[in-house]
Amino acid sequence: MKFFLDSAKLDEIKFAYSTFGIDGVTTNPRHIQNSGKPFMTAITDIANWIKEEGLEGVDRFPVSVEINPHLDNTEEMVKMAREVAAISKNFVIKIPAIEPGIAAARILEKEGIRTNVTLIFSAAQAILPAKNGSLFVSPFIGWKESNGEDCRQYIKDIVDIYKNYGFYGKTEIICAAVRTPKQITDCAVAGADIVTAGLAVYQDCMKHAYTNQGLGIFCDAWDNTAKA
Ligand code: E4P
Repeated sequence: MKFFLDSAKLDEIKFAYSTFGIDGVTTNPRHIQNSGKPFMTAITDIANWIKEEGLEGVDRFPVSVEINPHLDNTEEMVKMAREVAAISKNFVIKIPAIEPGIAAARILEKEGIRTNVTLIFSAAQAILPAKNGSLFVSPFIGWKESNGEDCRQYIKDIVDIYKNYGFYGKTEIICAAVRTPKQITDCAVAGADIVTAGLAVYQDCMKHAYTNQGLGIFCDAWDNTAKA
């Protein structure tokens, strides 16, 4: 399973790459806002770091960048997507799962600009992006579970549909807005290709009270072992 970092903060991206070996990055307008930088600066800084690290290529380290969410027609979406894609070979254009968005993703994929269809909340919404060759779909987990919905069947349904029709592994399923280690486990068990989450979620994955307790026990044993 691939782990993407859901952040536009360069210091977090660098830390998560060097510490956990994250496989890519996803951003959205909220993450850009939280970076404290203007949109173009935030994404150009990420693109420059990718070059410095020698990670160029969408197959090596994809970075999803969302186009202006106000755009509601295909022509404008495609225009902005082309401008953003021209900045880095690593950029995957994030487009909302609405009718003009599907049409835009279809055009962009034909041009070789890779797309991530986002804001997916039902298995049915995940089918057309796959039929039209999007690289990624982003079904949201955290938002639904905060609303009291258990997402295990929803992810499994998308995985099963993709397996039924040969999309599995071609259009990769990014479980997005993942908030907890339990949700990461659920996505992995269901067979999702990727999870994207904030840094704290990956840090939480490596925490367990018994690990700390066990370290204490082993430290005691180490300290009380017979000395030569
Ligand atoms: C996913 O690709 C999105 O960037 C993200 O998961 C949206 O959720 P959030 O902003 O609530 O984390």
